[in-house]
Amino acid sequence: MSCSSNRLENKTALITGSARGIGKAFAAAYVREGATVCIADINLQAAQRAAEEISSDESAGKAIAVHLDVSRQESIDVAVSDTIEKLGHIDILINNAALFTAAPIIDIQRKDYEDVFAVNFAGSLFTLQAVAKHMIARGEGGKIINMASQAGRRGEALVAVYCATKAAIVSLTQSAGLDLIQYGINVNAISPGVVDGEHWEGVDGFFARLENLQPGEKKAQVGKSVPYGRMGVAEDLTGMAVFLASSESDYVVAQTYNVDGGNWMS
Ligand SMILES: NC(=O)c1ccc[n+]([C@@H]2O[C@H](COP(=O)([O-])OP(=O)(O)OC[C@H]3O[C@@H](n4cnc5c(N)ncnc54)[C@H](O)[C@@H]3O)[C@@H](O)[C@H]2O)c1
Repeated sequence: MSCSSNRLENKTALITGSARGIGKAFAAAYVREGATVCIADINLQAAQRAAEEISSDESAGKAIAVHLDVSRQESIDVAVSDTIEKLGHIDILINNAALFTAAPIIDIQRKDYEDVFAVNFAGSLFTLQAVAKHMIARGEGGKIINMASQAGRRGEALVAVYCATKAAIVSLTQSAGLDLIQYGINVNAISPGVVDGEHWEGVDGFFARLENLQPGEKKAQVGKSVPYGRMGVAEDLTGMAVFLASSESDYVVAQTYNVDGGNWMS
């Protein structure tokens, strides 16, 4: 969907992990809605390409790029202050950067567990903290959106670590949502189901190895089982991301919304 009504005019957004995939689609949707967006990614070149591509569109807003590794506190601090310097302030944060991993319980490696928690959970918590401090000091509230997953709604036999990071995101959204609403900061989350793109190419590869499937087989299976009838695409999620960033969601606090074609109900 590419329609827009400038619902984010004069707003600024920092979106982590937005050089590709869902984050990039969010950045493009926000720019179409009139926002200025900072594409913050560990892959700076890809972030710069994405920013150019999105800004060259006939859009109301524009995009810039900064380097960010959400697993390092110093990088979070530098990226947040760079973004504030370049955009003036931050109205909206999307904690979107994440890694995927899969292994049977008895094969989980401590290093893999630490790496994935460092990005998916600690990265979200401490980026949220850095941006919330700025929003509180500024005194004009803000919108923070965390990316959860259907994987956070229940465990999966081969996906313990990733599932646990996403369950932790649902919990963080509740705690931060309850703590920060006193400052006019809404914290909510989006819980996608299965969304086609480079991320899922990697997921499919894990399952091909672990379940002895042909490449593409897992993707076909999960797509068929979505009640809507197909896998999601990144653009299926942009409506919720715009809503949660706009003033229309002011009374929505600490919630996680499933946008998954009907895969999960809660
Ligand atoms: N694709 C799906 O099916 C799906 C389903 C449920 C939830 N999600 C969630 O949605 C979000 C986006 O998923 P996606 O499919 O676009 O993923 P993706 O793998 O395509 O994109 C992730 C982005 O994060 C960046 N990144 C990785 N490590 C980083 C770090 N340390 N610091 C900063 N950036 C980093 C990558 O460079 C990449 O641009 C993630 O939080 C993911 O867990 C995705």
